[in-house]
Amino acid sequence: MSSRITKAVIPAAGLGTRFLPATKAMPKEMLPVVDKPAIQYVVEEAVAAGLDDVLMIIGRNKNALANHFDRATELEHTLEVKGDGAKLSKVQESSDLADVHFVRQGDPKGLGHAVLRAKKHVGDQSFAVLLGDDLIDARDPLLTRMLDEHDKRGATIVALLEVDPASIHLYGAAAVEATDDPDVVRITGLVEKPAADVAPSNFAVIGRYVLRPEVFGVLEHTAPGKGGEIQLTDALMEMADDVEGTGGVYGVVFRGRRYDTGDKLDYIKAVIQLAADREDLGADLKPWLTEYVAGFDRG
Ligand code: UTP
Repeated sequence: MSSRITKAVIPAAGLGTRFLPATKAMPKEMLPVVDKPAIQYVVEEAVAAGLDDVLMIIGRNKNALANHFDRATELEHTLEVKGDGAKLSKVQESSDLADVHFVRQGDPKGLGHAVLRAKKHVGDQSFAVLLGDDLIDARDPLLTRMLDEHDKRGATIVALLEVDPASIHLYGAAAVEATDDPDVVRITGLVEKPAADVAPSNFAVIGRYVLRPEVFGVLEHTAPGKGGEIQLTDALMEMADDVEGTGGVYGVVFRGRRYDTGDKLDYIKAVIQLAADREDLGADLKPWLTEYVAGFDRG
């Protein structure tokens, strides 16, 4: 791991309205994916890429998140007394994982506004941003590749996924230019949630970023954009013009497995796929699934 970047920022202060009423009293990042909250997978991904200083941007219902990454002394004691070491280590996994810090966003004024809340903690180093409801399969490492690309080019890096043109309106879309590397493109333009007929491409920006610290200065003067929110996409658009020699913005094209756990259908798919691949569940789940699906044809 060559990168000198050590800090990861995880914005988790959105309202999660697509998942109501489950998210009425709980952040969507705490929804369980099999038996772990989605955000624990994201922290594990950051740690696997060498980033063990994690700052979470939290909003309302912050306690569930803070408690999950804290010790649970009473529960740990009870399991210890029972001699249940396996369950004890499950409880301790999340608090031992990383050095986790929290900062409040206050009003959810957009992803750009959430990232700006990390300024004091991050200082003047580059850092990674991982969206807490976007899961990248641990078998398809993306962040390490992005950190390497940042080190090589000295530039801001975003992750891109080629999506069906019919769903580009759900993402930030990038206008791109080829580079010498087939998996890396230079970003020449970005549009937040464009209609399919005006989208510059079907390259969608997904929830992983490696940002240079100059992004904070840009975000400070970024006006509210789409949906009245301060958009990270708008700040990145400005940086793509290589403002103040910040190296521009490049995209790493991701071809692996990714699940958007903030979306109901994708969430269900994530639970099924990850459970089917698990050693403790797959052997029972897969034949049941096959039978269940066969029932669709029988009507
Ligand atoms: P989303 O747009 O997916 O989150 O933001 P949302 O607004 O919570 O979702 P819905 O549409 O109402 O269901 C992408 C990421 O940015 C964070 C969210 O928590 C999510 O991880 N975010 C968004 C913030 O931290 N603060 C904000 O003001 C907005």
